[in-house]
Amino acid sequence: MATIDLSVPLSAGGPRLSAVVAGVWRMAGWQMDAAACRRWIEQCLDLGITSFDHADIYGGYTVEAMFGEALHGAPGLRQRLQIVTKCGIKLVSPQRPGHAIKSYDSSAAHVLASVDASLRALRTEHIDLLLMHRPDLLMDPDALADTFAALRRAGKVAHFGVSNHSPQQLAMLHRRFPLVTQQIEFSPLQMRALADGTLEQCVDLGLRPMVWSPLAGGRLFSGDGEHVQRVRGVLQGLADARGVSLATMAYAWVLRHPSRPLPITGSQRVEALREAVAALSVELSAEDWYRVWQASVGHEVA
Ligand SMILES: NC(=O)c1ccc[n+]([C@@H]2O[C@H](COP(=O)([O-])OP(=O)(O)OC[C@H]3O[C@@H](n4cnc5c(N)ncnc54)[C@H](OP(=O)(O)O)[C@@H]3O)[C@@H](O)[C@H]2O)c1
Repeated sequence: MATIDLSVPLSAGGPRLSAVVAGVWRMAGWQMDAAACRRWIEQCLDLGITSFDHADIYGGYTVEAMFGEALHGAPGLRQRLQIVTKCGIKLVSPQRPGHAIKSYDSSAAHVLASVDASLRALRTEHIDLLLMHRPDLLMDPDALADTFAALRRAGKVAHFGVSNHSPQQLAMLHRRFPLVTQQIEFSPLQMRALADGTLEQCVDLGLRPMVWSPLAGGRLFSGDGEHVQRVRGVLQGLADARGVSLATMAYAWVLRHPSRPLPITGSQRVEALREAVAALSVELSAEDWYRVWQASVGHEVA
């Protein structure tokens, strides 16, 4: 099959990721052995989805190793994809007996140990992009910038970003070390990033956001209640008018923002991944974008 190139730069000087990223948060529930995982990765690559979003904690610290096992059996596969992973959340887990309480940790000792564990689990020499998963309230930005620089010098991590950080937290770190993205929740059902300055900051700094739960974790399809039904109804109408699926329309709504987000899919199903890629060619007018916004917030603009 011919290779489809969906790659886009995350920022000036940042890495190129595929415009749709495959998320593996739910992979531990997908009942895949290494061969099935490899087939799934190859199906993603066939669609042009070459970037995979991990975190050390996914599956209770097990998903990186599942993925690494799949890579291990397929020489050459690693070079065809980009690995994003995260660190900084400490879960109380049998896998990490040293963690006494669920907490955040951006200390050099934790970040360096976490990256080494991720490299071992993923069976790779380097991570393309490392994100601080949640803002550590005790973050020392100078020390964290030094840790990032050391990881880059060692060739272990190529690029760095944050996730779920406030604009102030991002700016504080970005002044000390060039970040390439902020990974945030954003969907027709979750619009906080439009209101708290997060997306404006991405536009201003030229950092494309990565978007998690772009389908609200499936609530867009399965949820009930007035809010979900209103949003689903408007999206479905727009989808029907274009002959695309509800999921494709929701992705298109996310993609319409000028920060040029990269949605992260959460599904194992290849058809669902295809629906995400299809959104890259859907045109959405500003008025139609505002129809969805209005349905979600429940009132027209002032
Ligand atoms: N940085 C962070 O803090 C953070 C937090 C959460 C997630 N993430 C990342 O974001 C990724 C995506 O998050 P998410 O899984 O919540 O994404 P999502 O795409 O909003 O939700 C995926 C869920 O929706 C369901 N779904 C139902 N109908 C669907 C349809 N037509 N198309 C697609 N999905 C449908 C999926 O089930 P099926 O499998 O049956 O399709 C799956 O359970 C994660 O894998 C992870 O990499 C990051």
